[in-house]
Amino acid sequence: MKKTIQIAIDGPASAGKSTVAKIVANQLHYIYCDTGAMYRALTLAALEEGVAPDDEEGLLALLNKISITFQQQPDGQLVFLNERDVTSAIRQHDVTRHVSDVSAHKQVREEMVKRQQQIASDGGIVMDGRDIGTMVLPNAELKIFLVASVEERAMRRYKENQEKGIPTDYDRLKNEIELRDFQDSTRQASPLVQADDAILLDTTGLSIKEVVDRILNYAENARN
Ligand code: DC
Repeated sequence: MKKTIQIAIDGPASAGKSTVAKIVANQLHYIYCDTGAMYRALTLAALEEGVAPDDEEGLLALLNKISITFQQQPDGQLVFLNERDVTSAIRQHDVTRHVSDVSAHKQVREEMVKRQQQIASDGGIVMDGRDIGTMVLPNAELKIFLVASVEERAMRRYKENQEKGIPTDYDRLKNEIELRDFQDSTRQASPLVQADDAILLDTTGLSIKEVVDRILNYAENARN
């Protein structure tokens, strides 16, 4: 019988983590957890409640008051802040702009990591984020570090926004991705780094299917 494993997918902003993680989870009938969505939900709550992104104690108190949950759907998942569906609201520009600051706090991360480990404790999981292979699931059987050139990442996001009818400026998008990469990689508390035992997968020029197939291949080996 095949083993049930944990799959950690980390990498910089807009590398395609959630797109491929969702498909891989679906194929394996595993749970999918987008940890970035959890930091985004907290950021949205903070913006709404007037808690400043640099107020660590305030953010922690707010986090302790709110629940962030997922509801699996056939075509993805919904994100709930308490009882409210915030799936679209957490993708707002304002949230994206502040989420790196919110997620930089050590105490906020400790609480988030606890919640994420709880979600993963039930078995087969594909989890994506920045610190999954290093902090959240250090014993994951398969760790992928997904990267792509900044130009390609900005172009993918640009096309995605166009399809959704969101007006976007390519250069601004590229600058924002670069800034978020810098902030996420240079913060003190668990910065974005590749785990020693993670497989580096550069998706520049690869289709979604090619990336998914490679990960499923690695998963197949890890499950034996
Ligand atoms: O993957 P994303 O762009 O939705 O993530 C939003 C932000 O949350 C990202 O800029 C960094 C942060 N994040 C994090 O610090 N740790 C994670 N495990 C996931 C996301």
